[in-house]
Amino acid sequence: MRILAIETSCDETSAAVTDGRRVLSNVVSTQISVHRVYGGVVPEIASRLHIESIVPVTEQALREAGMTYADVDAVAVTNRPGLIGALLVGVNFAKGLAAALGRPLIPVHHMRGHIAANYITHPDLEPPFLCLTVSGGHTNLVAVRGYTDFETLARTRDDAAGEAFDKAARVLGLPYPGGAEMDKLASLGNPDAYKFTAPVVHGSPLDFSFSGVKTAVVNLAHHAEQTGETLCVPDVAASFTKTLVGVLTAHAEAALEQYGFDTLCLAGGVAANSHLRGSLAAMTERRGVRLLAPALELCGDNAAMIGVQAAFEYADGVRADMSLNAEATAEL
Ligand code: KG4
Ligand code: ZN
Repeated sequence: MRILAIETSCDETSAAVTDGRRVLSNVVSTQISVHRVYGGVVPEIASRLHIESIVPVTEQALREAGMTYADVDAVAVTNRPGLIGALLVGVNFAKGLAAALGRPLIPVHHMRGHIAANYITHPDLEPPFLCLTVSGGHTNLVAVRGYTDFETLARTRDDAAGEAFDKAARVLGLPYPGGAEMDKLASLGNPDAYKFTAPVVHGSPLDFSFSGVKTAVVNLAHHAEQTGETLCVPDVAASFTKTLVGVLTAHAEAALEQYGFDTLCLAGGVAANSHLRGSLAAMTERRGVRLLAPALELCGDNAAMIGVQAAFEYADGVRADMSLNAEATAEL
């Protein structure tokens, strides 16, 4: 079944054609250069740019797959969670297409899509497995019991890991989105130069909290500015990264210990982080657990992961009609 998938939940307009786990095309048009001027995503601008890009991006995805609209068997779309105006562009476009073509419409949860990116890179992967989902908006440990059966074991109480990376990067004068930039700089600095406290959520030891460590970096930068001191940015990046990666690794290990999965997957934009991949590789090797992550180009937002998850949702009976709406927040 050839699925045309649409993703517009944040600042990437993406369309893909997938067939089961096979990706026939995956076109991603990023808005990053526009939002960079403002130091973060401006929701209104994101919506407008999605409107401009959605048709050319979709037609390119069809062309690259060697198809026309008539060859599409089903239309899938990210309808939750995300920026509401941005999501609505994709949802309304997908509804229009499904109605015009007379094909089924399949709504997909954005984070389910991120998890499904692993099925593309690892064709033999099957649930159950534990997944650490780390993106700009989410930080969760998820028990993936089936393709459409999820249990959230841990969540962040405040900032997501990607959000913390981006905010720390911003206060250090790095361009948006700072995550990838922090990754590179952290390789050049001393991870023990600064001591940031690893956050603990009392009563819920698997949960995350990153706002404290983020605020510590903000205070450090402001203090340096006021006293005229020059911060060694690579040292701050390395120390900050060490703290975040240490917490993510420790909680993933505790969940493996508690729930006994033999496979750990990574998902979301922060899954691209080289320090996180290295730390999890060492931990899982020590425990004799298999570690899998999506190919780097599938870690960030893309429609291929939405199409692949949509095939599982469809098999499970998921269909939407013309009353489908977008949701800014939604449980997995
Ligand atoms: O999954 P994603 O593309 O969008 C959301 O669903 O949020 O994740 C974007 C986040 C941003 O915060 C970005 O800075 C972060 O992923 N990111 C990274 C790296 N590459 C992207 N964070 C740390 N290290 C990276 N290499
Ligand atoms: Zn995402």
